[in-house]
Amino acid sequence: KDISEKINLLPLKYFDTTSKGEVLSRVTNDVDTLSQTLNQSLTQIITSVTTIIGVLIMMLTISWRMTLASLITIPISLILIISIVKRSQRFFKEQQDYLGNVNGHVEEMYGGHLVMKAFNGESKSIDEFNKRNNKLYGAAWKSQFLTSIMMPLMNFVGNIGYVVVSILGGYLAAKRTIEVGDIQAFIQYVRQFTQPISQVANISNILQQTAASAERVFEFLEEDEEIKETSNPVKVKEIKGRVTFDHVNFGYNEDETIINDFSADIKAGQKVALVGPTGAGKTTMVKLLMRFYDINDGEILIDGYDIKDFTRSDLRRKFGMVLQDTWLYNGSIMENIRYGRLSATDEEVIAAAKAAHVDSFVHHLPNGYDMILNEEASNVSSGQKQLITIARAILKDPRILILDEATSSVDTRTEIQIQRAMDNLMKNRTSFIIAHRLSTIRDADLILVMNHGDIVEQGSHDELLEKEGFYAELYNSQFKKDQAS
Ligand SMILES: Nc1ncnc2c1ncn2[C@@H]1O[C@H](COP(=O)(O)OP(=O)(O)O)[C@@H](O)[C@H]1O
Ligand SMILES: [Mg+2]
Repeated sequence: KDISEKINLLPLKYFDTTSKGEVLSRVTNDVDTLSQTLNQSLTQIITSVTTIIGVLIMMLTISWRMTLASLITIPISLILIISIVKRSQRFFKEQQDYLGNVNGHVEEMYGGHLVMKAFNGESKSIDEFNKRNNKLYGAAWKSQFLTSIMMPLMNFVGNIGYVVVSILGGYLAAKRTIEVGDIQAFIQYVRQFTQPISQVANISNILQQTAASAERVFEFLEEDEEIKETSNPVKVKEIKGRVTFDHVNFGYNEDETIINDFSADIKAGQKVALVGPTGAGKTTMVKLLMRFYDINDGEILIDGYDIKDFTRSDLRRKFGMVLQDTWLYNGSIMENIRYGRLSATDEEVIAAAKAAHVDSFVHHLPNGYDMILNEEASNVSSGQKQLITIARAILKDPRILILDEATSSVDTRTEIQIQRAMDNLMKNRTSFIIAHRLSTIRDADLILVMNHGDIVEQGSHDELLEKEGFYAELYNSQFKKDQAS
């Protein structure tokens, strides 16, 4: 429960720098090890400890001298156990770490199976797997070897106990202080006494693995979280949609600035286009607006309120977003569109699908709207995926819509049709459009031209063309290319 809550509180930065397999390994393998210990080993420990105490009491009732003598074995056992545990603990930690590492690799290779095959990456992947797996093997056999010699060592120490009992018992019997029957009973008890001790020693193997796992789980639980929500969030029923960027400065890492000094004022209802070369920081601006990352300096305001004064969920509720990387989950097309607004009726879903031109291809698919998309949604084309995500955003009916290269894989004719449907829909709503085909954003109210994280020019299409600057150059190069083709 804690882990699943934690995952929601982690900043996106964490997932930028940690592999999925690594996170999965902590959540599955490590938690599994913990629960197994709690289920099985813990009960064993309880029986063992109870047995030890019971036997100790019985031995004391027979002869305290004999009991003391047979307890000599305990410090010897403890010294042995501690010295082995000390050595093997490191290997257990390594074992769990490398297990996460191997899982990360496997996850990655299956995730990108198609590309890996296309580039004949099989042998390289197998080599890499073997390399990581060998490390895992190395750590695992060392930890297992060290703990497997624990049991025979304990048996050896236990046998010393017999010898001591026999010698002392023989001496005391000769002096007639105890009876031969008592010695017999003692030998039985010593056996019962050493058995749980060696059992505990054996469990310590599992406990060590558990400690290593617990460490990894707690490490995860102690990761830095997102900046806390504001304590008294603003409550605005209906926002108008004015968006202001005020000297925004941001970098994904502290030492690297991606957005330098971004300022723009977007009036409610305006259609804004962000254009610029790849890597200019367009997607980054969108992520900042939705507060996936917190800016380092400056302010982003919606209707005059700092976005930090909204709760994250409240802020994101105002946006509908279609990202560059489409995300669809393992479910039917209907369910995937409805993800935009879970309370939507079938009719509303289909209306949104029609606006996004999903309806026109859905009927050619087996099962239509009930067709199940597989995990990577690789059973529909990239363009179709984009259309489905657009339908989802349309269904959400947000105040502010963001389309990040949302139609980049769709043919030009469909793109223009969607644009028209969108224009209707986005009347009086603020929208941010990022598109590479500049012909589709010609009619935007405001075009922000970005380069290297800065706005280099802004204005309407005609104004920018007149300026004959960066935008005019971009536009003309595309226009000529379009004519040539
Ligand atoms: N999660 C990330 N972590 C670190 N750097 C990133 C991350 N995402 C993007 N960048 C960097 O930020 C810059 C801008 O990226 P982006 O905003 O995605 O560009 P684009 O204008 O093509 O959408 C790029 O140089 C990229 O390397
Ligand atoms: Mg982008």
